[in-house]
Amino acid sequence: MTTAAVLTAAGSGRRLGAAGPKALVPLAGEPLVLHAARRLAASGVVVSVVVTVPPGGEAPFASVLPAELDGVPVRLVAGGASRQASVAAGLAVLGPDVDVVLVHDAARALAGPGLVRAVEAEVRAGRAAVVPGLPVTDTLKRVGRPQVAPGTTTVHGAAGGPVPGPAGAPPAWPVLATVDRGELRAVQTPQGFDRALLDRAHAAAAHLAGDEATALTDDAGLVEALGAEVWVVPGEERAMKVTTAHDLAVARLLLDEGDQ
Ligand code: C5P
Repeated sequence: MTTAAVLTAAGSGRRLGAAGPKALVPLAGEPLVLHAARRLAASGVVVSVVVTVPPGGEAPFASVLPAELDGVPVRLVAGGASRQASVAAGLAVLGPDVDVVLVHDAARALAGPGLVRAVEAEVRAGRAAVVPGLPVTDTLKRVGRPQVAPGTTTVHGAAGGPVPGPAGAPPAWPVLATVDRGELRAVQTPQGFDRALLDRAHAAAAHLAGDEATALTDDAGLVEALGAEVWVVPGEERAMKVTTAHDLAVARLLLDEGDQ
């Protein structure tokens, strides 16, 4: 039995200010997706990497990703409208011999081969769903609905968040509680799963749409929704997600500091 990776790369680069897909944005001369695929292959534990790419936008990915990395075949499949749909499209093309799946985001381009091995080993050791995570360093508050000072106005932005209204009033959120950060982890990828469990989780969530779908931002969330146990193992700083231009600058720094 073997382990395969699904590498999600079908998202847009909007928040990064990129014209095309974020996964093609260069970091030290190489697109993020190639960094991520190279590290998955270098782990020595995956037999294939399936990359989900924007539907109709395969050509630029095919030109930057070799058919093989370190002897590991790299295949492209058309992703879907959501991350969840993209992962499902990747799962659908895995061979019958694959019994462990690692789901990884191209946006976490610098997650190291050691982290890939650690997650895979934990799944092989019998935990059916494993995610890397880091302790949270900020103080965290749970907040209520945004409000503005009496006599001013606020309009809501496209993403549902408040933006200053015509009167320029800054929004404020009432604090409901301070959350005990000791029991929180900021979760990363690659996330590792027993393949049958992940297939079941995706099948159960396939009907979700709208807010319900967007609230589930990782595969472990789908597994949790089934009532199955999910385990956290130590993550790593360099597995940070590149979302903004600032993140890209931090990733460049990490590379300069000797990450490979
Ligand atoms: O947009 P965000 O950074 O949260 O996306 C997380 C990962 O999911 C990225 O690697 C992105 O390329 C991928 N994705 C995808 N298909 C989508 C949306 C996002 O493969 N429809």
